[in-house]
Amino acid sequence: MPNVVEHTRATLNFSAGPAVLPESVLLQAREALWDIDDTGIGILEHSHRGPAVDRVFEEAKATCRRVGNIPDDFEVLFLQGGASLQFGMLAMAFLSTGRTGDYLHTGAWTKRAIADARVVGDVHVAFDGSNDDFRSIPEAADIAWSEHPAYAAYCSNNTIYGTRFDTAPDASAPLVADMSSEMFSRPIDWSKHAMVYAGGQKNLGPAGVTLAVIKRDFLELARRDLPDMLRYDLHASKDSRYNTPPVFAIYVCGLVLKWIEEMGGTEAMTARNDAKAKCIYDAIDSSGGFWKGHANSSCRSVMNIPFVSPTPEQDAEFLAIAAKAGMSGLKGHRSVGGLRASVYNAFPEQGCEALASLMRDFAKR
Ligand SMILES: Cc1ncc(COP(=O)(O)O)c(C=O)c1O
Repeated sequence: MPNVVEHTRATLNFSAGPAVLPESVLLQAREALWDIDDTGIGILEHSHRGPAVDRVFEEAKATCRRVGNIPDDFEVLFLQGGASLQFGMLAMAFLSTGRTGDYLHTGAWTKRAIADARVVGDVHVAFDGSNDDFRSIPEAADIAWSEHPAYAAYCSNNTIYGTRFDTAPDASAPLVADMSSEMFSRPIDWSKHAMVYAGGQKNLGPAGVTLAVIKRDFLELARRDLPDMLRYDLHASKDSRYNTPPVFAIYVCGLVLKWIEEMGGTEAMTARNDAKAKCIYDAIDSSGGFWKGHANSSCRSVMNIPFVSPTPEQDAEFLAIAAKAGMSGLKGHRSVGGLRASVYNAFPEQGCEALASLMRDFAKR
């Protein structure tokens, strides 16, 4: 098992997404563009119903199940429309009259999920983190679920505010998680979830594919009187090939999943990711207050680390120095400002060390 994430390119990509991919995956994808499996045809040119793509789908799904330790009573779907389509699709499929969609509001993405669900039906916000600018994650005592929720939705890792749930919240309704910015960065407790979804472009592969893992008994409850592309049951019965799927994106996801497996799986990823994030948080915490992280330290994300210096001018100066040192994608999201380091599975350890060292030097000066 390789110990460190490979990194040979000149630039360190701290982008929040689309984000860095494993180098070995990119090299394989490059070859497959020209010719996959000695068919004389590239992956982009094969029919989505032919044998080459059959193999790609079967492998991607099987690897996903192994890497995610996904129980047999869950369906693995490759969907389109990004994680954003899941906001409305979830509500359309499961929100019925007399029931509410319950949400833990922990940032910009839950804001959108809530807004989309409101278009469809009744929503109950069981926790609202906007009062402290989304620096925290609710404890059990902070959450007030409604009487009869159709589902309880939350975002396990808040890409913009840099907070994350240490463990999944307890809910009696089917629990649905948006794991877009941390999918397979750590093991998932399937016993607590009815559905997990993630847009592809952070920890899984390219944009264009959304992974949705849905418990079959929950899926059974999904409405069928919807336009075809919004029907979970149809995607499941057609093995994610009801229409022409984003084959290339799914192919690359399959390679990334294999790479995670080769790197020791989600447990090894957890150890690696924890160490990577700690390196940067240590640089923040040891700066004598020069650097400040956005999230409360009890709920810091291991994937996305937003932080600021004392002034926007110093933030800009640091960004310029970092750019000269080959670091890209560090500018903070416009709603938080400052800087943000996104250090997904495929981000190399040496990149975290390089950033931490630059942050220390800058704070000293
Ligand atoms: C947590 C989370 N949810 C949803 C989204 C939206 O994803 P997409 O652009 O795939 O619709 C993002 C994108 O950054 C995200 O970080």
